[in-house]
Amino acid sequence: MRVLGLETSCDETGIAVYDSEQGLLAHRIYSQIAVHAEYGGVVPELASRDHIRKAVPLIKEVLADANMTLADLDGVAFTRGPGLVGALLVGACLGRSLAWALDIPAIGVHHMEGHLLAPMLEADAPEFPFVALLVSGGHTQLVQVDGIGRYTLLGESIDDAAGEAFDKAAKMMGLPYPGGPYLARLAEQGDAQRFRFPRPMTDRPGLDFSFSGLKTATRTTILACANDGVLAKQDQADIAAGFQQAVVDTLVIKCKRALQQTGLTRLIIAGGVGANRELRSKLKAAVEGLGGQVFYPRPELCTDNGAMIAYAGTQRLLAGECEPLAVAAVPRWPMDSLAAIEPMESVHG
Ligand code: KG4
Ligand code: ZN
Repeated sequence: MRVLGLETSCDETGIAVYDSEQGLLAHRIYSQIAVHAEYGGVVPELASRDHIRKAVPLIKEVLADANMTLADLDGVAFTRGPGLVGALLVGACLGRSLAWALDIPAIGVHHMEGHLLAPMLEADAPEFPFVALLVSGGHTQLVQVDGIGRYTLLGESIDDAAGEAFDKAAKMMGLPYPGGPYLARLAEQGDAQRFRFPRPMTDRPGLDFSFSGLKTATRTTILACANDGVLAKQDQADIAAGFQQAVVDTLVIKCKRALQQTGLTRLIIAGGVGANRELRSKLKAAVEGLGGQVFYPRPELCTDNGAMIAYAGTQRLLAGECEPLAVAAVPRWPMDSLAAIEPMESVHG
């Protein structure tokens, strides 16, 4: 079965074709960063309009990359939620009507389920059950995954998401939007030991996170170091390194605790912050130290992409689910409302 995946929940237009026999055939991501950069954050109306401009040309490019035409498709998957409603509606209208025109089934996919299953696109796909750390701009969650649609929330952030914390700290330091990757790059030149930032909620039991206190600590440190509101290059790099280390340590402590608490040995990392190199290497060392194994999607499949939507949609279509003719977008959509389906044999992309 060949399924077209459309991701339009936020500021990336992601398009892909996944084949249930051959794996990922092609995928492309168009990032709207340049559109939103001058506003310092995503402007929902501009996001919707840009998805409209880019989705169809990208579909054509991806089909050409896969050496296919629309007639070769067996299904269409689109992100139904959660996300920005206008942006979601672009993918939902396009996906639903394209499937109707081609007389093939459509399926609306949960964005976070897409992230969670993204490691399945890799050659060393994990087996169920595993613990997933979902770290994106909007979510920080630890989830026990017993199968597709069989998710138990173990813990989550009570305030800012990890990506949001990266973006806010970066903004305070005068870095461009979205700040996470810029801050991470700067941190490579910094001394993580010079400033000691808090590791919030690690000194008490439980698997919830809180990142808002880190924000305050970062602001205080910046104010103490800045001269006439300007940070010296080295101070900036040292603050970035100290901040990144605090987030990474916090995530590592909670992941180890989640594995110990569930008795599971496999950890997967998904979501945009999963592209962070320091996080990837520290988690690998920590989990291997416990005798476990870490699985990551390649960095471009950690951030928003169409491949994860095509994959999750394929599994649900193969299990017999499909979308009614109505166009539906769900801006807020709890993941535990998803139906469980039997896992298919993993196919590598
Ligand atoms: O999953 P994603 O692409 O979009 C959401 O669904 O939110 O995640 C985007 C988030 C942003 O906050 C971005 O700054 C962060 O992931 N991010 C990073 C890195 N790359 C992306 N944060 C830290 N280090 C990175 N290398
Ligand atoms: Zn995402």
